[in-house]
Amino acid sequence: MAEYRLRPAALADARAIAEINAAAWRETYAGLMPAEALAGIDLDDWTRRWRDRISSGDSGQAVFVAFEDGVPVGFARCNRQTNPKLVPLGFDGEIASIYLLRRVQRQGLGRSLMARLAEHLMCIGCASAAVWVLRDAPKARRFYEALGATRVGVEGVWEVAGAMLPDLAYGWRDLRVLAGATVDDVRKASPIR
Ligand SMILES: CC(C)(COP(=O)(O)OP(=O)(O)OC[C@H]1O[C@@H](n2cnc3c(N)ncnc32)[C@H](O)[C@@H]1OP(=O)(O)O)[C@@H](O)C(=O)NCCC(=O)NCCS
Repeated sequence: MAEYRLRPAALADARAIAEINAAAWRETYAGLMPAEALAGIDLDDWTRRWRDRISSGDSGQAVFVAFEDGVPVGFARCNRQTNPKLVPLGFDGEIASIYLLRRVQRQGLGRSLMARLAEHLMCIGCASAAVWVLRDAPKARRFYEALGATRVGVEGVWEVAGAMLPDLAYGWRDLRVLAGATVDDVRKASPIR
């Protein structure tokens, strides 16, 4: 059985995160984003961006990486909420991104990464959090709903890679709901540390 682990990202993880980010975009957004944009992702540029994110403590930012048998297979990032539509609604944390390679999905890693993000956000004083999700991404929406999020009534558009994709916000009023998803809740994965 594979062994899964999570840990905070280090600068040396930036390239691997960029590669997972690109692979997961291609798996997730084929048919939604222009094929040329997905094919033309500049990995060096994305690696630089991930280095900046990992090294920056701005806005309480944190990045976690998931490993399968020592190989990076996913990541998640959070920070303090800055969105002008969500701050007034009382959401003080933001789930900024979460991506797993398709082959490791649905084994509890997403739930565990979200728990780590929630714990981090609570450590920096956040009580709640929101996340943007594509309106036409039913699997991701089911995931957030399964973790206790509800729609907050705010919609937007994700302008990315030459596409205008409608999205909407989900929120957790109490992050303890998410942080409570500890390793004990991970049924299918082997122990995560
Ligand atoms: C969305 C994502 C992060 C979820 O992580 P995961 O490890 O696959 O999900 P988990 O195994 O932790 O699932 C937890 C619960 O969420 C729900 N869920 C997860 N994936 C689901 C799916 N494809 N369809 C329906 N429900 C789903 C289930 O209730 C699941 O519990 P169960 O397996 O006991 O039924 C992951 O699938 C992923 O990276 N997808 C592609 C990228 C993406 O869409 N990211 C989100 C961008 S906003």
